[in-house]
Amino acid sequence: MSVYANVLLVADGPVSLRHTPELLVALRQAGPNVTTLMTPSAALFLPPLSLSLLSGGKAKTIAEATEADYAAADCVIVAPASLRTLADMRQPEWRERLGYGKRPVLAAPVLLPAEDAQAAEKELQELTACGVQVLTPEQDMSFGAMGAVRTASVSRCLEAILAAVTPHDLAGLKILLTAGPTIEDADPARYVSNRSTGRMGCALAQMAARRGANVLMVHGPMSVPIPEVPGIECVSVRSALAMHKEVMARANACDVAILCAAVADYRPVQYSHEKIKKGGEVDGRFSLILQRTPDILEAVGALADGERPFLVGFAAESEELERNALEKLAKKNCDMLCANDISEPGAGFAVATNRVTVFCRDGERIDLPLQSKEDIAAAILTIIRKRLPPKHNGKS
Ligand code: CTP
Repeated sequence: MSVYANVLLVADGPVSLRHTPELLVALRQAGPNVTTLMTPSAALFLPPLSLSLLSGGKAKTIAEATEADYAAADCVIVAPASLRTLADMRQPEWRERLGYGKRPVLAAPVLLPAEDAQAAEKELQELTACGVQVLTPEQDMSFGAMGAVRTASVSRCLEAILAAVTPHDLAGLKILLTAGPTIEDADPARYVSNRSTGRMGCALAQMAARRGANVLMVHGPMSVPIPEVPGIECVSVRSALAMHKEVMARANACDVAILCAAVADYRPVQYSHEKIKKGGEVDGRFSLILQRTPDILEAVGALADGERPFLVGFAAESEELERNALEKLAKKNCDMLCANDISEPGAGFAVATNRVTVFCRDGERIDLPLQSKEDIAAAILTIIRKRLPPKHNGKS
């Protein structure tokens, strides 16, 4: 998912020695053009040539910056920012140069071990009041002789920048997502499950939150990290029954429900509190009796009009993609169904890419190319946005 924008990164203080190179590498992968300016204290620790090499863009001291460097920026972030620089950022000269009100201006403060937490909090509040988006220092970073410093993580800064330069076309929408596999326990040691990692669900959650939606993700045990992004609230469950309960309690308060969890279709009829021992088999065969789990997508589809969110299902097929997908779309009363052929290389479980065909209630079929799950997620959200009837716009 390449983001096209011009970002001005102002690096400050000794913590930039670690934070800035990592952030530049992450930004380079995400796509925006970055110009880096160093305050005098950052310039003591970082040669501009290194920063240019990492970002592929310009890097210079703040004294060398031109009007054009500021004018070209779609978004400015001061990261890391010492408390002294935060105080400077309230002064007219900085406000004018960074362009408060004209474009998003972000700051990632650094709290040093010896700093007074109350004074720092006051500083952050005053800067927020000036219209700067202050990224709460949430991560302790061990910093050699300086001890543990506290600042917003690189991934948090990256996501905040990307959210700031992405149009918020989903703002005001409440999106319910299911993601990951479910696990159906047989005894304390064994279970029935599937190969889903949760990657597609995470991509949808991240892209939707970046575009301004409020995301509620009900997820099973995930093998990939859940994006730590403001705008995503998570409810963690284990079994299909628990996922069903959590989803049904929330579905009617949402505008859109995208159910992409790989819910186990069957669960052991009986849970054995003790580990099942060998010896119970007949002719070397052991039977585990399974029973159907509730179909969550079908249950949401059966909600009355007015209760039912705009409903998007997924289908994992290994044969007859179109016929099976259309059957699921109708049976589960979905507005859209995103089908993927799990037998195709590069699509389906535990890979970074997918090829999805979207079938719509009105008969339209949209074939998306093989691409990253983030790009697929973005394309699906764009189709939802276009097709969302006004009655579903903004229950949150
Ligand atoms: N689904 C669900 N609850 C279930 C099973 C599936 O909500 N107990 C949802 C999935 O999240 C997905 C859609 O139904 O959005 C289709 O899932 P899929 O596994 O492709 O199909 P099934 O309906 O389980 O049918 P089959 O396994 O026979 O293909």
